[in-house]
Amino acid sequence: MAKRRHRTRTFAERSDPPIRAGLLSPTRTVPPSIPRPPYALTGDPGPSVSSNVRTPDEIQRIRRAGQAAAEILMEVGPRVEPGVTTDRLDEIVHDATIARGGYPSPLNYRGYPKSVCTSVNEVICHGIPDSRPLAEGDIVNIDVTIYLDGVHGDTSVTLPVGGIADHDRLLIQQTLVAMNEGIGAAGPGRPVHAIGRAIERHARRHGLGVVREFIGHGIGTEFHSGLQIPHYHDPRANTILRPGMTFTVEPMLTLGAPACAMWDDDWTAVTQDGRRTAQFEHTVLVTDDGIEVLTVTADGTVPAEALALTAPG
Ligand code: MF3
Ligand code: CO
Ligand code: CO
Repeated sequence: MAKRRHRTRTFAERSDPPIRAGLLSPTRTVPPSIPRPPYALTGDPGPSVSSNVRTPDEIQRIRRAGQAAAEILMEVGPRVEPGVTTDRLDEIVHDATIARGGYPSPLNYRGYPKSVCTSVNEVICHGIPDSRPLAEGDIVNIDVTIYLDGVHGDTSVTLPVGGIADHDRLLIQQTLVAMNEGIGAAGPGRPVHAIGRAIERHARRHGLGVVREFIGHGIGTEFHSGLQIPHYHDPRANTILRPGMTFTVEPMLTLGAPACAMWDDDWTAVTQDGRRTAQFEHTVLVTDDGIEVLTVTADGTVPAEALALTAPG
């Protein structure tokens, strides 16, 4: 029997044309009156020196930064539609951040050129906003971080662009549930690895992959501080969570294999197999009796629930 060069793919496996880089707009500016994080000028955040446990004053400020990040997501989310460029989403986030007196944390962080990350389809994370218009059927993660009053708040959602395929909708929904399962496994006295174990268990139950190369992180006066939060079960992550710790939970789940490749821009991480991936992210605080999600709006709206699950399509 003749050897087939390609096996037949089912609809669910069909790969869309790969995302390709577009053109970058000129670097956006931040008014001089807005306080900047230490890396804004050089791009170098330096080594992490902050404690894993925050002071009450820092916690109050991180709470406000988290709230602002969630509110910026609520501003930009409804602007996601076919035809809008990711550069336009960057402009919206940039302006909304400045309007709150904040600095867009991604801007010049390790040389990152834009104010938000926009990761489309097979882009796992750190997609750079550019001139590519979103197309009906795409999925896009928008990852907002604001530096406000000396601390960072970090949150992201994955949204459908117009009508999307059922398997992409399931990917988005189950990635959100996985993040919430991870947060639900956290609390004072619990080990960090309980978070990844819960996320991985949920992903496996739905036949989804879990990316290992990118993990959650401590956050506060530094964008990424010492604490590491794997989204898979890693028994070495045996730090015991204590009240006052603040960190992110931000799993990236894949329809296919979770293996990563990097574009030559050294930022854009994609799945090697070209299949789609979704991510959600919250900044959370360990309290005396549980977990407080800090990336919710002033009126208690959770952007993921308000945007990702109710969008048409
Ligand atoms: N917001 C991302 C995170 O969740 C980090 C982006 S770093 C950047 O950790 F430089 F790409 F913006
Ligand atoms: Co983020
Ligand atoms: Co983060």
